[in-house]
Amino acid sequence: MDPHDHTTPETFSFRLPGYIRNPYSFYPKFLSELPFFFNSQDNCYVVSRFDDVKHVLQEYKTFGSGSGVIPMRRDNPDDFGFNPIFMLSPPEQTRLRKLSANAFSIAYTTSLQREISDIAISILNDIERGSIFDLVERYATRLTVLSLLRVISVSDQDTPYVCKLVMDIINGNDYSSNQDTAFMKDDPPALALTKFLSAHIDRVRATRNGGFSAKLLDADIAGDRLTANELYGMFFVSLIAGTEDTIRAFANVLLALWQHPDQKHMVLQDMDNLLADSIFEALRLYPTTHYLRRVVETDCILCDTPVARGASVVAVIGAANRDERQFNEPNRFDIRRGNSRSSLSFGTGPHVCIGKNVARLILTVGISEFLKKFPTYEIDLASSRNVSRAMIIGYGNMPVHLPS
Ligand code: HEM
Repeated sequence: MDPHDHTTPETFSFRLPGYIRNPYSFYPKFLSELPFFFNSQDNCYVVSRFDDVKHVLQEYKTFGSGSGVIPMRRDNPDDFGFNPIFMLSPPEQTRLRKLSANAFSIAYTTSLQREISDIAISILNDIERGSIFDLVERYATRLTVLSLLRVISVSDQDTPYVCKLVMDIINGNDYSSNQDTAFMKDDPPALALTKFLSAHIDRVRATRNGGFSAKLLDADIAGDRLTANELYGMFFVSLIAGTEDTIRAFANVLLALWQHPDQKHMVLQDMDNLLADSIFEALRLYPTTHYLRRVVETDCILCDTPVARGASVVAVIGAANRDERQFNEPNRFDIRRGNSRSSLSFGTGPHVCIGKNVARLILTVGISEFLKKFPTYEIDLASSRNVSRAMIIGYGNMPVHLPS
C-alpha cells in the first residue's frame, strides 16, 4: 500500500521531510486523485499532470515568474543587486535571452568538450581502484564547478577561491524554507562572489580574453547591449543556477544505470548512441528541479477552477514526468523509450533552461569518462542521503565502491 495514501491537500507540504526523502512516493496519488489542489500548508495551488504543468510554464502572461522560482521577498530588490533573468518576463526576459544566445549556443558549448574531458580525467586519475569515495563531493561537484568556472574564463589562479565560494553557496541555506529569507543579504559567500564577479568582468572587458565572457560582452543587437548589471547577473546566475542541478543529475544518472545493469551494459557497448538517451531518461524519471513556482498575473481558470490574481501556483515537474498520459509505463527506467527528451526536467516555455547545452555536455563527458574508467562501480545506496535546496532535490552524498 502506498504510504502516502493519507496525504491530503491540508496535510501535504513541499517541506515535509518525507517528501524530500522520497518525493516519488507522493506522485502516484497526485496524478490519480489530486491532479489539482490548494495546498494550505504552503499557500499555493498545485498542478501535477503533464499537460497542466506544461500549460502553466508556457502561459507566461497568466502565470508570471515575477516572484521568482524561489519564493523571495518582493519588496527588496537589493536582495539580488540585479534582476535575475528567471524573475523577468517577456519582453525584458526575451531581450536578455537573445543577447546571451551566442554564449550558450551548441556550437560554442561543444568547443569546450576537450577541456571538460581533461578536467574529468584529472579528477578520476586521483581516485584509486579498490577505494570507496563520495561520488557527489569528490567527482560530480568538482567537475561541474571547475567546468563552469572554465566556461566563464576564471583563471587557474582564482579557481580554488571561487570554487570554494560556489560550493559554500550551494551547501548553504535552503532559501525555499523561509519565505522571508533574503537571498544575498547576510550571506558572506554570495557577497564575496558578487565582488569577485564584478572585478572579473572588468578584467575580461580589458583583455577580451574568454569565449563565453567575450560573447556576452560583445553581444550587440542593433546597438542594444547588456548593461553592466545585466552582465553581472548573467555571470552570477550561470554559475549558481545550473551548478546544483547538474551535480544532482550526475548522481541520478549513475544510480539509475547501476540499478539497471542490463541497460548499463547496453550503454557501455554503445556509448556514442545510448549515453545521451540514458541521461535524458534519468533526468525524466529522476528530475533535479522537482517543481517550479509561478504567480497568477490575471484572474484565470485553471483546471476548471477560478483562480484569482496574486495566487501562487506550483507546477510539479517530478509528477508530470511520470504521467502515463505522456509516458508509457512511466515509472520504468527505459533508455529506449524514445520520448524521454519531451520531459519537463529543463522546463518549457520562455524560461526553458538556457544552460541545457552546457549541462548536457558536462554530464555526457563526465559520465562517459567515469564509465570508461570504472564500469563496475557499486553504490552504497543505504548511506546516500537526499538533500533539498530551493526546489532541487537530490543526493548530497553517494558513497561509491570501485572494485579493484
Ligand atoms: C541538469 C542540469 C540542469 C537542469 C535540470 C536545469 C533546469 C532548469 C529549469 C527547470 C529551468 C526553468 C526555470 C523556470 O522555468 O523558472 C532552468 C532555467 C535556467 N537555467 Fe538551468 N538547469 C540545468 C543546468 C543549467 C546550467 C549548467 C546553467 C548555466 C550554465 C543553467 C542556467 C539556467 C538559467 C540562466 C536559467 C533561467 C533562464 C530564464 O529564466 O530564461 N542551467 N534550468
